[in-house]
Amino acid sequence: MKTVLTGKKILFGITGSIAVYKAAEWVRELTKAEAQVTVVMTEAATRFVSSLTIAALSGRRVYTGMFEPDAGEEMTHISLARESDLFIIAPATAQSIAKLAYGFADDLLSTLVLANHAKVLVFPAMNSSMYCHAATKANLTRLQEYGYGVIEPEQGKLACGDEGIGRLVDWERARESILSAFADQDFAEQTILITAGPTWESFDPARHMSNRSSGKMGYSLARVAKRRGARVILVSGPSAIEPPPGVEIINIVSAQQMHDAVMEHYSSADIVVMAAAVSDYRPGKTMEQKIKKGGKSIDLELVPNPDILKKLGQKKKRAEQALLVGFAAESRHHIEEGQRKLKEKNLDLIVINDIIGKDTGFGADTNRVSLIDRDYQLEKLPLLSKEECADMILDKIVKLLQ
Ligand code: C5P
Repeated sequence: MKTVLTGKKILFGITGSIAVYKAAEWVRELTKAEAQVTVVMTEAATRFVSSLTIAALSGRRVYTGMFEPDAGEEMTHISLARESDLFIIAPATAQSIAKLAYGFADDLLSTLVLANHAKVLVFPAMNSSMYCHAATKANLTRLQEYGYGVIEPEQGKLACGDEGIGRLVDWERARESILSAFADQDFAEQTILITAGPTWESFDPARHMSNRSSGKMGYSLARVAKRRGARVILVSGPSAIEPPPGVEIINIVSAQQMHDAVMEHYSSADIVVMAAAVSDYRPGKTMEQKIKKGGKSIDLELVPNPDILKKLGQKKKRAEQALLVGFAAESRHHIEEGQRKLKEKNLDLIVINDIIGKDTGFGADTNRVSLIDRDYQLEKLPLLSKEECADMILDKIVKLLQ
């Protein structure tokens, strides 16, 4: 399947840190995603992992020296730099960061950085004292001033035995930074509040009622909005999915808790997307002790939960509020139901999905949705991955914001 990375020319600079083995994995992942990855290693990097290993992973020649014979007429550094769509430096050592900050060009990698016109992403990795040293901090600030993206390393146990900041980020975080470098930053000024997942409504300490929502659609929206530059607040019901990097997550359990979290944060949001499958009802009473088996039928009273989205829609009638997007999970009369909810909840956009269709709805990695906007314009989207679907919903939101 074609992705954003397909056919992209990526220059990948590797410098000498123990984290080289992690960068080798990134080279493999990018190559698997059909990016064309050309690796340049410093002399020190080749002491940790051989250039042969990296060449096997990228399927391409690896460059290590300034004066290697070149296939073309031009100097290696000029031709490699001219061709790239993105320049990644990972792991970036204190030494290589210092060299880049001061514009040194004494090896192939540093020379290429100067000759390059593409976006540069620097992923530092080093001992935490080295990372926290004022010299390294000042050098990283210089790189940011040049317009380079600097991805802060993680906290944790370091190869030298110390505990602290300095660990090369994991692939998941790196992948998001790379995809973000290729994405339009059209949500850079926006705060988006997204709800996701199911809610759990408890009968007693052991039992609850819920629904089959996995949270995949809401989490995909959060991930893609973050990639496109938004500040993302994700209010999530219980879900097995890892929150996307850089997203502010608020974990809740019940519809009432989701209501409270949304009410607390919606005023700072420019856009609210309610992708959660909120339980419409909850038990009238939650027992403090587990209900015992008695062989007889029991009656359980269910009372309605607050309709969070409807409440936001009513507030929007009275004052200027965030753009409101709702979801309608339907098993029949999809469009009619969508139109009714759009009007009833005073929304700007409703996303209708078919929960019993093949490849769509709860738990699936794909979705086929229809969008109806506030002018009742209907748009039917094809079967897409949930991330692609999220991108198209965000494209529509951009149009509605204009
Ligand atoms: O009315 P219905 O539940 O079908 O509407 C679905 C939309 O309303 C979804 O966007 C859902 O997140 C939201 N909703 C809500 N509060 C509820 C129930 C649904 O905000 N109690």
